[in-house]
Amino acid sequence: MSTLMVMSVRKLNESEAHAVSDISSSSWHSTYREIYSNDYIERWLADHYSEEAVKKEIEKSLHDEKLLFLGAFEDSICVGFIECNISGKGAHLLRLYLKPDKIGQGYGKGLLQNLEKHFKKFMVRECFLEVNRLNLHAISFYKQFGFIITNDSGEDYIMVKDYRR
Ligand SMILES: CC(C)(COP(=O)(O)OP(=O)(O)OC[C@H]1O[C@@H](n2cnc3c(N)ncnc32)[C@H](O)[C@@H]1OP(=O)(O)O)[C@@H](O)C(=O)NCCC(=O)NCCS
Repeated sequence: MSTLMVMSVRKLNESEAHAVSDISSSSWHSTYREIYSNDYIERWLADHYSEEAVKKEIEKSLHDEKLLFLGAFEDSICVGFIECNISGKGAHLLRLYLKPDKIGQGYGKGLLQNLEKHFKKFMVRECFLEVNRLNLHAISFYKQFGFIITNDSGEDYIMVKDYRR
């Protein structure tokens, strides 16, 4: 990130659904180009990341403090997002995506660290996520932040971070 840019992380609102949908599309095409077929990517995006689907998810998160849907902003432009569901003392990291040209500039870290501030409030003991086993960049990013691979479910690894230590 250039020194002139200001990074912030906050809850997303409904008016940002379009930006989130756009980021999802560019990130999915670039991240999964060599992992999933184009048809699969298009279908997944249409089913889960249309502007309408994202808007519904943001609305849900605004009414449920345990569903966290946060955006990373460069100045006032949304460049990435993270979504996580907390249940009891456990958390499930559902989504973490950045605009491809914003990768490696600290936004992933900013999103994850902000999420972890919310974890403290809810006394979360453990967070898990699924990541495609061929998504090596994301796997090493998560490892760097203390997640370890505990299991694999087909094409995905399950990674867990223990916050009790
Ligand atoms: C995964 C992702 C969110 C990580 O965000 P990022 O912006 O690239 O990572 P950051 O720039 O915030 O990196 C934070 C720290 O992790 C380190 N890091 C980043 N990627 C790394 C990697 N592949 N291996 C090891 N360390 C890595 C950085 O060096 C940095 O360390 P520092 O704080 O000591 O300087 C981002 O790469 C992304 O959107 N990828 C495509 C989508 C995706 O795969 N999502 C996950 C789906 S499960």
